[in-house]
Amino acid sequence: MKKELTIILLSGISLFVQAQNTVTLKGDEGKTVISRHIYGHFAEHLGRSIYDGFYVSENNTKIPNKNGVRLDVVDALKKLKIPNLRWPGGCFADTYHWKDGIGPKDKRPTIVNTWWGGVTENNSFGTHDFLNMCELLGTEPYLSGNVGSGTVQELSEWVQYVNFPKDSPMSTLRQENGRTAPWNVRYWGVANEAWGCGGNMKPDFYANLYRQYSTFMNANVGKEKIFRIASGASDDDYNWTETLMKNIPMNMLEGVAMHHYSVFGWGENAKGSATDFTETDYAHTMDEALKMDEFIEKHAAIMDKYDPEKKVALIVDEWGAWYNVEPGTNPGFLYQQNTMRDAVLAGSTLNIFHKHADRVRMANLAQAINVLQSVILTKGEKMILTPTYHVMEMYSVHQDATLLPIDIKSGSYAVDKYKLPAVSVSASRDKAGKMHISLVNIDMNKPQTITLTLQGVKSTAVTGRILTSAHVQDHNTFEKPETIKPAAFNGAKLSGNTLTVTLPPVSVVVLEL
Ligand code: AHR
Repeated sequence: MKKELTIILLSGISLFVQAQNTVTLKGDEGKTVISRHIYGHFAEHLGRSIYDGFYVSENNTKIPNKNGVRLDVVDALKKLKIPNLRWPGGCFADTYHWKDGIGPKDKRPTIVNTWWGGVTENNSFGTHDFLNMCELLGTEPYLSGNVGSGTVQELSEWVQYVNFPKDSPMSTLRQENGRTAPWNVRYWGVANEAWGCGGNMKPDFYANLYRQYSTFMNANVGKEKIFRIASGASDDDYNWTETLMKNIPMNMLEGVAMHHYSVFGWGENAKGSATDFTETDYAHTMDEALKMDEFIEKHAAIMDKYDPEKKVALIVDEWGAWYNVEPGTNPGFLYQQNTMRDAVLAGSTLNIFHKHADRVRMANLAQAINVLQSVILTKGEKMILTPTYHVMEMYSVHQDATLLPIDIKSGSYAVDKYKLPAVSVSASRDKAGKMHISLVNIDMNKPQTITLTLQGVKSTAVTGRILTSAHVQDHNTFEKPETIKPAAFNGAKLSGNTLTVTLPPVSVVVLEL
């Protein structure tokens, strides 16, 4: 009896110990920079992303705009310090012929957006419109080239059109269309999802095409000016990455992409509601999101075999949550709401990207406005910021900061068959010497206390901001746009080199020391 009692007591203690979240943080040992480009965005010709989202036309007198680009959107995105913007797709990119979108707007041909709703577009937003908008936003453009239904010459000429500084047929055409100086676009995608909507190719066939296309893109501007990104794997398709790394010479390749969406399944209406979901649904979404860590680790390990010096970047140029569209909206437009679930997902995913910052040097949330896990939603003259926006804004302190090594032991959060870590943590030191720690409580029911041992840190004060709400389903609406917004956080106590932080359920916190 005495022995049984001892066992019961000991297992009680071990349960208690397991429930603790501890972090050891080495404040003076960082060497990897978290590229600001991990905080990139994505704008596809899809639903109301471009038309109605970014662009409302030059003739719009109701919505303040510059050359048709919404100024409320520009202002909001500038606050995020968005480092890059991917355009025009997505699946749309491999149907897009860039010459349709230049020259006088009333002369541009209409096109049918075959992937997204079958709608007819008038091409009033094209290359000049996008690249000038990037200048307005202070962001670097990332152009996705058409390989699936385009030609080598077409993509080669696009590079020449936007980047060539001297006289050439394409740079002369650019000047005739009103732009003298080249835009010097650095980031170029060579196809999108070539294994699917980009042409249903096999990896070795695509690797050969990549070699051909990228040869003629380079010819126009010189190697130092261009960063070519191969269309990458979906999720755990490691064979795709292996085939590209094996068959494309490293001097022809600057980045390899990868896409991962947090989605229940691809069937019609199989993805669940963005706002009306159960705890099991929440855990399922987070389980899918946290797979990002394993996917990156395994794709990166393959890249290490061929590129041990890590010259080629892994670019997660599509990530985020994908739910059923909002009731009553066009199923082809992928318009979904955004709740605290998405904030927790974004915070945890960005922490994963930081962890792999030595290889992951760019990522693009899908998508910026009115599509999938957006940071902004618009409705006529109204615009709202989503919980995901606020996470991006709070985390922007990590851009180009040095990642600090951490050793994390997390308790767990278990729901039905899902067993998740209860917390996610990341830390960096910025150029001014300030340290930032981002912490997420994934647990939907319980507060989580995290005890951090700070090594090599001299700070004596801590401040912070928190994003949270009473219910994980809470979200901002056009009627109540500020239900969820950051607030001051007082739940962190610093005593010597021990920092103790208590996070309420479903919350995202960023501390500054
Ligand atoms: O982001 C929506 C779509 O998802 C993109 O067009 C495509 O690349 C992916 O399948």
